[in-house]
Amino acid sequence: MVDTQNRADRQGLSVRGLTVSIHGKPIIRGIDLDLVPGKITGLAGESGSGKSMTGLAMLGLLPDGSKTGGEILFDGRNLLECDEREYGKLRGARIAMVFQDPTASLHPMLTIGRQLTDHLRVHTGMSKRDAMAKALETLERVKVPDPATALKKYPHQFSGGQLQRVAIAVAIICEPEILIADEPTTALDVTVQAGVLRLLQQLCDELGIAVVLITHDLGVMSSLAERISVMRGGEIVEEGPRYEVLRRPQHTYTRSLVEALPNHEPFLEGAVESAESRPEVGS
Ligand SMILES: Nc1ncnc2c1ncn2[C@@H]1O[C@H](COP(=O)(O)OP(=O)(O)O)[C@@H](O)[C@H]1O
Ligand SMILES: [Mg+2]
Repeated sequence: MVDTQNRADRQGLSVRGLTVSIHGKPIIRGIDLDLVPGKITGLAGESGSGKSMTGLAMLGLLPDGSKTGGEILFDGRNLLECDEREYGKLRGARIAMVFQDPTASLHPMLTIGRQLTDHLRVHTGMSKRDAMAKALETLERVKVPDPATALKKYPHQFSGGQLQRVAIAVAIICEPEILIADEPTTALDVTVQAGVLRLLQQLCDELGIAVVLITHDLGVMSSLAERISVMRGGEIVEEGPRYEVLRRPQHTYTRSLVEALPNHEPFLEGAVESAESRPEVGS
């Protein structure tokens, strides 16, 4: 449908000097982050470093008692100044999300077809018939097997990996510009994980979506992210192109994360290969 036509107008999102405190406790201490159309930006760091809060800030979903500062720039405005009504129009439509647990964004008692079409119709006013066609097309795009049957199924009838694909279908059906994927493969086993990561890469390439891939596991993004930011204690301690960050980590914390990756890490091999094709990397 609109996919490729409006690609040229696609825009990214920029975080500038973002601070978040919850009940007076500083959680995010002034971070910058750029989400670029058609690229995956990696946000890594240990548990509790503030990755999810950064994602939630972009979605306008911070917990009660949160105070923010700085800017989240999208479509010419600072989202931190949007009221809930304005955010309601953006969230799920132009800025979408995928979480670790796919059931978090799915209703257990509605068919997948109903959920996809309801979501689409709320945001676009599309007819039922057109929405169903788009739902089918979107399930094909995320490579759910037998999409026509899948539309009639309920969430519990899918495996974990297939259900994450369904949640991704819900996230992209309104053709968002921004996709926030918070630990999207953490609950999946490694073989399934690789397929879901490839899918994110493909959606990013084909649809020109600006993706932020949030994970505690640097290995997950080592074949995907264009650039990687590493968070610790609410700050970004290192940022750069992924080969630089993985091959030549500057910060001792990043170095410890890279060293903790298992030798047989399949994603890192990919990164090393590509890095070695760069002329200045020889030794
Ligand atoms: N609802 C909440 N209220 C207060 N503090 C919270 C809440 N949720 C998370 N935090 C705190 O915010 C910090 C960052 O958490 P989070 O962004 O979830 O980390 P990460 O996603 O990197 O594991 C942690 O110190 C955590 O304890
Ligand atoms: Mg988290």
